[in-house]
Amino acid sequence: MKYYNIVTFGCQMNVNDSERVATVLESLGFLKTNDLSKADIVIVNICSVRQQAFDRVYGIVQKVKKLKKIKDIQVGVTGCILDSDKKILEKKVDFLFNINDLKKLPKLISNKNEIDIGDYFSIKPRFFNDYVAYIPIMTGCNNFCSYCVVPYTRGRERSRDAEEIIQEAKLAIQKGFKEIWLIGQNVNSYKNEKYSFADLLREIDNIPGDYWLNFSSSHPKDFTLDIISVMKNGKHITPLLHLPVQSGSDKVLRDMNRPYTIDKYIDIVKKAKQEIKDLCISTDIIVGFCGESKEDYLQTKEFIKDMKFDIIYLAQYSSRKGTYASENLKDDVSFFEKKRRWHDLNKTLKEINLENNKKYLNQEYRVIVFEKKGNNCLGKTSFGKIIKFKSDKVCVGCFCNILVNKTLSLILEGEFVSW
Ligand code: SAM
Ligand code: SF4
Ligand code: F3S
Repeated sequence: MKYYNIVTFGCQMNVNDSERVATVLESLGFLKTNDLSKADIVIVNICSVRQQAFDRVYGIVQKVKKLKKIKDIQVGVTGCILDSDKKILEKKVDFLFNINDLKKLPKLISNKNEIDIGDYFSIKPRFFNDYVAYIPIMTGCNNFCSYCVVPYTRGRERSRDAEEIIQEAKLAIQKGFKEIWLIGQNVNSYKNEKYSFADLLREIDNIPGDYWLNFSSSHPKDFTLDIISVMKNGKHITPLLHLPVQSGSDKVLRDMNRPYTIDKYIDIVKKAKQEIKDLCISTDIIVGFCGESKEDYLQTKEFIKDMKFDIIYLAQYSSRKGTYASENLKDDVSFFEKKRRWHDLNKTLKEINLENNKKYLNQEYRVIVFEKKGNNCLGKTSFGKIIKFKSDKVCVGCFCNILVNKTLSLILEGEFVSW
């Protein structure tokens, strides 16, 4: 028996790409192992969004190098990699491939023929669990935010065939997957002769079954109001909108090449909250971007307090080679100050959540269980809140109803009520 191990860094797009890599490896007879030392082949799927994320790759490559002294093991890399990093990595690994060329993987590994498919999206993913299905609807990005590597690593936007997406969703729902995620760097710019993103969302929501439908990420510049009405009228769409804002300062947004203002962002959120009951908003924020003054930072902090965000994915700015910011703007917020702003915003978010979460006390919610250790369980509500509870009845991947009996800043606590 030959074994494969895939190490995935980065976002849901990379997770789904890894699931397609797994399909190809299994078609070649490899079996999955989570134990690196047992593997005959290791694939590292790379994220370059921040330097720290990229540097973690070297740790894995080093481990495989040590194993090479005692066994025959191959290491290959793919994912979001800048051309300049490809040159360095190529010398350290056995092979490197572009995910769009996944059909060539059999040739790279064992000189077998390429797989006979057009697009790599036509390879059915071997989902890593049996309740969450990530379904990419587009890849790449045309936005060139001045800090971001994605347009350089994933290339220009490319929308996937709508029928193929709908089929993949139908199949996952029929198999009993409970969380369906439509994913892409900018789902709102999905383009197809027949479907806009709102049409596609509505079409998938019409598939019968017991599941939740989510999507991510939306760009405020491309967000259209018809999405709000599809969300409002949906049978499966969750009341969770991930709308990355990045900064609370219009000046910083301009420098980031994010073509919207804070007023426009507030307007979208207001309209969405008016229409969609119990809507939760999650966002991405970068602190310490080039030229972010103390006043700009404080504007972001005030903005967060006003918006009462439920979830924030908070990052410290990391200069990325080849991007506009790295070539043309000064990375002038010190390492120490980035860290300070990051901790300060985290503290603010905790305070907001502590207050926000009080409204959930003594309410009953349907959750999907995503972790169970003994009878200690973690479930997630349709709007993304995590509830801790005890039960020996439930299993990972099932829905159940929980009554919230305690609210904290990051988590809720509750008790099992019923299925
Ligand atoms: N397309 C999405 C959007 O427009 O918001 C985001 C995709 S990006 C891969 C994920 C997040 O990584 C961004 O929203 C941003 O907050 C963060 N990010 C991207 N480049 C970064 C950088 N150079 N330093 C720190 N964080 C960064
Ligand atoms: Fe990166 Fe901006 Fe594209 Fe998002 S929209 S992937 S942040 S360039
Ligand atoms: Fe990283 Fe690529 Fe996603 S750079 S965040 S894995 S699109």
